[in-house]
Amino acid sequence: MAKCCINPSILSADFANLQAELRKISNADAVHVDVMDNHFVPNLSLGLPVVQRLQEISPVPLDAHLMIEHADRWAPAYADAGLASVTFHAEASIAPIKLARELRARGAKAGLALRPGTGIEPFLDLLGEVDMLLIMTVEPGFGGQEFLDLTLPKIRRARAAIDGSGLEVALQVDGGITEDTIQRAAEAGANVFVAGSAVYGADDPSEAIDRLRAAGTL
Ligand code: DX5
Ligand code: ZN
Repeated sequence: MAKCCINPSILSADFANLQAELRKISNADAVHVDVMDNHFVPNLSLGLPVVQRLQEISPVPLDAHLMIEHADRWAPAYADAGLASVTFHAEASIAPIKLARELRARGAKAGLALRPGTGIEPFLDLLGEVDMLLIMTVEPGFGGQEFLDLTLPKIRRARAAIDGSGLEVALQVDGGITEDTIQRAAEAGANVFVAGSAVYGADDPSEAIDRLRAAGTL
């Protein structure tokens, strides 16, 4: 049975009660923290001071998703904050190899994210430099959007490349993950699933995590 990780996104949580919202998801594998700068994406969420506090109080590891420009300049500080994993966008980094090495040197896992329209092929030679690939399954910026099925072939190609490389690289998908779409994404080869509205929009977030995990486990 393939291991399936569920990382709820606090973008869909109550921003005035983040500590209580984190307690609701203690059965999650990690909490996905969406950092948006209103430039790389047309939305603004939270930044380093809030993430630093979340790191101090979270019962589960933090998985940052940086939807920000100038990733080379800003991402290392998130690793310095002690986060388990820091993911930056390929489209926002001038020197992704250097940045991934910097994140790892600072003790974080390094993740490389791709927007739905960005091809995977130019980045396949970088697989050895990262711990995770994040394939966006919606255009980044907002929670609650519909899963883009057109990303499934890219997920399959990424899975084939990872398996072929013999490297241990997690394959994360983010956007529109529900009990229905998680199965398609898992069958295509994803093994780490971000879910915002499907978890925090549910009456019982912890039960929603269990249901998603069951549906995403092949
Ligand atoms: C979107 C964010 C996602 C978002 C997912 O740009 O990166 O992490 O919170 O939300 P849902 O699961 O509602 O699509
Ligand atoms: Zn995200």
